[in-house]
Amino acid sequence: MALFLVVPQTPQSNMMSPPSRNRMLMCPPDYFRIEYEINPWMSLKNPADQIRARWQWDQLYTVIEEKLQAKVELLDPQPGHPDLVFTANAGLVSGKRVWVSNFKYPERQGEQTFFREWFMENGYEVISVPPELAFEGEGDFLRMGSLLFAGAPFRTDLSSHIFISKELQCEVISLELIHPKFYHLDTCFCPLNDRSALFVPDAFSPSSLKILTACVDHLIPLKTTEANLFSANAIVSGNKIIFQRGAETTRKKLENEGFEVFPVDLSEFIKAGGSAKCLVLWL
Ligand code: ARG
Repeated sequence: MALFLVVPQTPQSNMMSPPSRNRMLMCPPDYFRIEYEINPWMSLKNPADQIRARWQWDQLYTVIEEKLQAKVELLDPQPGHPDLVFTANAGLVSGKRVWVSNFKYPERQGEQTFFREWFMENGYEVISVPPELAFEGEGDFLRMGSLLFAGAPFRTDLSSHIFISKELQCEVISLELIHPKFYHLDTCFCPLNDRSALFVPDAFSPSSLKILTACVDHLIPLKTTEANLFSANAIVSGNKIIFQRGAETTRKKLENEGFEVFPVDLSEFIKAGGSAKCLVLWL
């Protein structure tokens, strides 16, 4: 796999606008279920408790509004689309432009219409990624300061990194994911600020680990038990961070770094292979 993808600098370079960090998109879990198995966390034999899922999602919503003081926009839930709650996979937002996802698996492809409609109704310029390219939006593309990291190949094709790099006229740093449990970049890498990030060492190929080490001043590894609690799937806003309850080592490390930590229980969503960060999209 190519490691760095560098689009030649042009006068228009660095057209990527970071999201505002005070507005986000969520989708209530009315139809959230485990109806299929498209990642190693999902098992039809381990259904999500719908009442508990609703309560957990409400808790997350409340912490976001009250502690992060972010404005939450809501997408209407849709029957037959149980994973629509994972709005991080809606697309990649840059200012008022959005590249809408092309889901890898047919089970989620029907969601694209609802995300597309929401963005159109809310004044975004909606841009399509070529249909033959798998692309799962902010699940696989994460900003860190002026850098844009992207994961492949489980859900997003490497060719999508090249496409997005050209569209945004910015450099994309491609990272090869090798662990099926950490199939999206946002399950194993979490930028905290311009210089620090949480990461799951086992999730990356040796060459991608070298790249991460070269690009990030302060990499904080997650131990396996806490990686499996989706500790990297955190919502970060300034010095505030929300992630799954129970990851005490990570919590202490973050507090030592000056973060205010807000633990939430999202156990029902972990059964679907997602947690806090997957349930939101920064707008
Ligand atoms: N069940 C969903 C899927 O497999 C979970 C998506 C999690 N989203 C994320 N951004 N990591 O697609």
